[in-house]
Amino acid sequence: MKTYKKICAALLTALLCVPSLKADEGMWLLPYLKQQNIKRMQEMGLTLSAEQIYNPGQGSVIDAVVHFDGGCTGELISSQGLLLTNHHCGYDQIREHSTVTNNFLRDGFYAPTMKDELPNPGLVVTFIDEIVDVTDYVNAYLKKAKCNDPMEYLSRDYLTKVANAWYKKNRGKKPGYIVLDLAPFYEGNKFILSISKEYSDVRLVAAPPSSIGSYGADTDNWVWPRHSGDFCVFRIYTDKDGKPAKYDPNNVPMRPKFHFKVNSGGLNEDDFVMIMGYPGRTNHFYTAAEVAERRDIDNTVRIDMRKVRQETMLAEMRADEAVNIQYASKYARSTNAYKNAIGSNWAIRKMDFEGMKKDQQAKLTKYATENNKPEYIEAMKKIEEMVAQRADFRKQVWMIDEGLLRAVESVGAPVLDEKTFNELKSNADKRTKFINEKYLTYFNKDYNKEVDRKVTKAMLTAFINGTAPENLPAVLRGVKDINGFVNNLLDKTIYRDASVLESAIINGDYASYDADPVVRLSKDVHALHADVKGKVAGFDREFARVRKTYVKGIMEMEGEMNVWPDANSTVRYTFGKLKGYIPRDNVYYGFQTTMEGVMEKEDPTNPEYTLSPKLKDIYNRKDFGSYALANGKMPVDICATTHTTGGNSGSPVIDKYGNLVGLNFDRNWEGVGGDINYLADYQRSIICDVRYVLLILDKYLGAQRLIDEMDIAK
Ligand code: ARG
Ligand code: GLU
Repeated sequence: MKTYKKICAALLTALLCVPSLKADEGMWLLPYLKQQNIKRMQEMGLTLSAEQIYNPGQGSVIDAVVHFDGGCTGELISSQGLLLTNHHCGYDQIREHSTVTNNFLRDGFYAPTMKDELPNPGLVVTFIDEIVDVTDYVNAYLKKAKCNDPMEYLSRDYLTKVANAWYKKNRGKKPGYIVLDLAPFYEGNKFILSISKEYSDVRLVAAPPSSIGSYGADTDNWVWPRHSGDFCVFRIYTDKDGKPAKYDPNNVPMRPKFHFKVNSGGLNEDDFVMIMGYPGRTNHFYTAAEVAERRDIDNTVRIDMRKVRQETMLAEMRADEAVNIQYASKYARSTNAYKNAIGSNWAIRKMDFEGMKKDQQAKLTKYATENNKPEYIEAMKKIEEMVAQRADFRKQVWMIDEGLLRAVESVGAPVLDEKTFNELKSNADKRTKFINEKYLTYFNKDYNKEVDRKVTKAMLTAFINGTAPENLPAVLRGVKDINGFVNNLLDKTIYRDASVLESAIINGDYASYDADPVVRLSKDVHALHADVKGKVAGFDREFARVRKTYVKGIMEMEGEMNVWPDANSTVRYTFGKLKGYIPRDNVYYGFQTTMEGVMEKEDPTNPEYTLSPKLKDIYNRKDFGSYALANGKMPVDICATTHTTGGNSGSPVIDKYGNLVGLNFDRNWEGVGGDINYLADYQRSIICDVRYVLLILDKYLGAQRLIDEMDIAK
């Protein structure tokens, strides 16, 4: 009887311990690979051991993965430091080297010899040396420092201080190329230190033209099926001893501990893939109240406000090619997060995330009751209360952010306080500096007053209509004639011209400067923004405390090893399969696109879908070398069930042998809700098939020397 009871208890525990994870969910931490997922990954086909994936400095997979420029991921693909990342990740560097006559963005770039590879001051990549759980150290440190304010100890500054102290005590003197990133995980229930080596001599080697690298541009952004070759190639250089070093023409190509072999044979649907990279931010510990807040405030305000701005901009861009060039980048930035917000709300509603989170909370309530942990129930109650209390303020902050700060260009004009005004008045050098470095970089060649006029009229109308009169910035109160207001703003301001502004500084006094319409608008909006942001921030301290408790409850209930911490720009792995999906009733999207689709989308009248004659020629001659599929078609992109987010761009996608099959560059919009809750049936990482990379390097750019450097496995 006793044994029977024991068996029952064991069975029950086993059942309860099965994590409530859906297949392929999770952005996992590498140090726990062995404990957490290696078995399941091997069952799915992986042939590597945990040590072959994560054993920093010893020639494992992690040694070939870099954090690229702080926001993207990249991977090494040769024994000479050749690095692959996305075209949209290297975009700034490619643009930096472009001129009207040598337009690498438009035409692509290839350095025929190493000497021609182009240095990029400011660009850095980092490699992981060590990842250490320092939770006990941090907690002891906080105790000793009598610091229990989450606003302080969760801040970057504070944690950098702690990280430096840890390093000094445990590792000694820190070389200049070592960077420390001490980050809170699970809302500060854990602290993990990433120790990395930073390399700053990173040179541009090759890039396709934008008509390949961002084929489909904004229209196809976040969209599957996709047809872009979103990649570019860099090379890391070191000093003669193989150490990280500043740019020097005598530096030598890096000899990495590990680089990926390239799988040019491709994979089939349902084949195992794994992705390693630096996902930026997720919110999978949201409570139901926070899901609703995200849906009804953050996403809704963003969608409503950006729609107005983008529609106005787009009409102007379509009407005039010069405007199109001026505003393309502003438009792209706006629409990237806009589309994401739409996809997010689609998923929140379609999958009833609010209901899912309520169920999760009910489960925690039951657990807390049974285990006498009232603090978890209290935490959930507190979160709900605070979300309600901050709602109006939060909406105001989002309205000002999306409706004015990001949309109305005058609001961001460089305005002066009284002290600086007087300094500039009496100092010609400082004045010239201000005009050149502040005024003219802001109102630069990409500023178009007539576009700004239309956008400002549309935005102020939408903003005023969406805001209670008492919550308007002072200058906008009582404004009835928006056309007149905006025309006066843009035509009468001293900011309308550099020389007018300069003479107003020289000849005018501060009081009249301060009364200028652009100065007034900018100052009033910023003051109001700071004021309401302060009101929202008033909740932050307590909010951080109760969220930490809530997440502790989830970890305890599910078992810590069964829950992954939210993404926070630290290195993670995710695994799954190549797989198509059903986006809506009776529609199926396969997992692999080909150049047939590139051709189908071609539209010479639309710059987003214009193809170069060279690529069409490759297609027409079927000059696919050995890269084509068995059916003769040329692969372009693939999609997988892996769990990725922004920051995973450029991440290596590897097969069961650890060979590279592609690089991640986007997600489908049906899957962006995965930042809150993984969507097994909808969520797909969008990946550039490495065979398309090889084709473009080989046949389009003529970069045979790079292909020769790689280890290509079939
Ligand atoms: N959606 C991708 C990401 O979030 C690509 C963004 C760049 N491309 C663009 N068309 N804006 O980073
Ligand atoms: N394009 C995103 C990036 O740059 C990845 C898309 C996503 O999954 O959010 O990281």
